Amino acid sequence: MDYDAIILGGGAAGLMCAARAGQRGKRVVVLERAREPGKKILISGGGRCNFTNIHTAPDRYLSRNPHFAKSALSRYTARDFLDLVERHGIAWHEKTLGQLFCDGSSRQIVAMLMEECARGGVELCCGVEDTAITHADGQFGVGDCRAPALVVATGGPSIPKMGATGDAYAIARRFGLKVVEPRPALVPLTLGGDDVLFRELSGVAADVVASAGKAAFREAALFTHRGLSGPAILQVSSYWQPGEPIGIDFAPDRAEGWLLEAKRAAPRGDLRGQLRTLLPERLAATLAERLALPGDLGNLPDKALRKAEAQLGGWRFHPNGSEGFAKAEVTLGGVSTGDLSSKTMAAKAVPGLHFIGEAVDVTGWLGGYNFQWAWASGVAAAEAI
Ligand code: FDA
Repeated sequence: MDYDAIILGGGAAGLMCAARAGQRGKRVVVLERAREPGKKILISGGGRCNFTNIHTAPDRYLSRNPHFAKSALSRYTARDFLDLVERHGIAWHEKTLGQLFCDGSSRQIVAMLMEECARGGVELCCGVEDTAITHADGQFGVGDCRAPALVVATGGPSIPKMGATGDAYAIARRFGLKVVEPRPALVPLTLGGDDVLFRELSGVAADVVASAGKAAFREAALFTHRGLSGPAILQVSSYWQPGEPIGIDFAPDRAEGWLLEAKRAAPRGDLRGQLRTLLPERLAATLAERLALPGDLGNLPDKALRKAEAQLGGWRFHPNGSEGFAKAEVTLGGVSTGDLSSKTMAAKAVPGLHFIGEAVDVTGWLGGYNFQWAWASGVAAAEAI
């Protein structure tokens, strides 16, 4: 069977690419290994799919080449995807920080993409087990399908339990493309050593500023039985380098000198009581114990209070690892952008071979940015097929 394009992988990027190429009059087949398409879309955003972010901008993506994502993101914007959602009558809301979710269910987004594919006459084959690729005379072949274009949209290896694979990397290497070492990203971090005591706080959350290197995020952090999670931690996990500490500001709204101020205002109060005004009880107790400044604030030297303030503003944790691909929302690294055209997502050295979505070394922040990259890179490839 002859097509204009074979799309390997019926996830977010593959379905978007197929729909757009089909609607441009191309004969397109999507070959999906799982029994149904868009499985990660279905589980995303707690079942409501955080489908884009209105603050999408290239600086919210990590890549060896920070400029690579600019072209695709500027040609297919969050507004473009929102228009599509609205055309399909899907009700949505902004949750926080520009994150747009379905009011109903992620299923609506998959149904929308399927309808768009149907409008483009796209053929979708699920449960395809043998996806070995042949390439001869400018034609790609997978099973019985042949086409001059092959779009690899097989995602990354995060959450292998759901059938996620690193197949894109093997395909890239086979065609001579480089792969930036894949690493789990948007992933909980584990604590050991001295920090292990904090695991006792499992279930406690606080509004903090978490930082790794120069990156800093103000959101919730959550203590878990293995270490640290919550949006602030997931965000910094993408920037964290093994062996490096991460910083947490437990008092992001307090101005410099706030503990000295508290000493003057309430000299008979104690540090734990002060911490309780900004943090949950158990966390306040643990931090106060660690700071080891018992007794009335009025009896504590200013110097000690200044030091405590500095510690609270930049508490250092030393993660001993992450919870790995089993728990990572996305993959950092992937097919090297140096070997791809940012306009068409095509391999520079292999005409007709495209890579899109999470397979590529472009990783977004938490909050709808990764789907926006999937949509935008899918459209970029579709327009070039
Ligand atoms: P995706 O993984 O969607 O699709 C790849 C497809 O290829 C899969 O269907 C897979 O079965 C198939 N496949 C793999 N190997 C194959 C092969 N050899 N042959 C054929 N098919 C093959 N992002 C966001 O922006 N907002 C959110 O709310 C969330 N929430 C979220 C929750 C959870 C739990 C996870 C794990 C991830 C998210 N994400 C997210 C991230 C988001 O899901 C991710 O960035 C996109 O799904 C990536 O789209 P892709 O199409 O590249 O891969």
